[in-house]
Amino acid sequence: MTISGKTEVYGILGYPVKHSLSPIFQNSAFEYLGIDAVYIPFEVRPEDLKHAIYGLSALSVRGVNVTLPHKEKVLEYVDRMDEHTAVIGSANTLKFTNVIEAYNTDWTGFLKALNEAKVEGKAVLVLGAGGTSKAILYALKRAEYDVYLWNRTYEKAVELSKKFQVQVVKKPEDVLKRISLIVNTTSVGLQSDDPPLFDYSQLDQGHTVFDVIYKETPLLRRAQEVGAKAIDGLSMLLYQGIESLKIWTGFDVPFEVVKNPVVNLRR
Ligand code: ATR
Repeated sequence: MTISGKTEVYGILGYPVKHSLSPIFQNSAFEYLGIDAVYIPFEVRPEDLKHAIYGLSALSVRGVNVTLPHKEKVLEYVDRMDEHTAVIGSANTLKFTNVIEAYNTDWTGFLKALNEAKVEGKAVLVLGAGGTSKAILYALKRAEYDVYLWNRTYEKAVELSKKFQVQVVKKPEDVLKRISLIVNTTSVGLQSDDPPLFDYSQLDQGHTVFDVIYKETPLLRRAQEVGAKAIDGLSMLLYQGIESLKIWTGFDVPFEVVKNPVVNLRR
């Protein structure tokens, strides 16, 4: 890679951001497209978010992805957002033109990854009611799923149920027989010794389990053991990145272009 006076700057804002895979695959995408651009990590503490956004704009940075814990707060500092982002209430993509525009590509990325799984049936249980859950509930409702929502803190599920017209359940086990898809949006499973979210022995081969965490979690392992379909969050991550790139540049890159550098890294 040669950096010149014309090189455009993109990046990802998060805290922490060191473990992000986005710089790896977004730089690979720029290289594939022959665009003179770099994509770098920006570690931004929550209290510095406002200065960071206005600073990036002042520095003529072209676009950034936004990750934890900034996805919701960032909307306070943008000039425009598309209709989906406004409903979801969080953004993972900013585009700097003469104004600051916000987009959410988590929901489209999720739907693309889900479409590949070819799930039969239209009833789904979503676990978790945080920021990621909102984009996923929005996506599932648009795809006309019948959505059940469970969250450790019941009140938060009730709050989201009003916004997205979904049904709240007190225990995941109560609906397992009625649903064909389970989506974990919580951080549970990031550590391999995390306690289970529900009784995983009640999973069966009729279930598809989608975990937004992009590695094999105890939930996904258990799903595989019983012959259920198990999907980790890597495809969603890559698809949201492809969608962000399209918003910034107008170009689409093939899935393999973003997947290969990440898969090689995991080997
Ligand atoms: P994100 O933006 O990634 O969704 P978040 O907004 O902090 O992150 O939301 C985290 C989600 O994981 C929440 O649904 C949270 O449940 P609570 O609302 O009860 O806090 C869920 N979560 C985190 N740790 C959990 C645990 N040990 N057991 C069950 N749910 C957990």
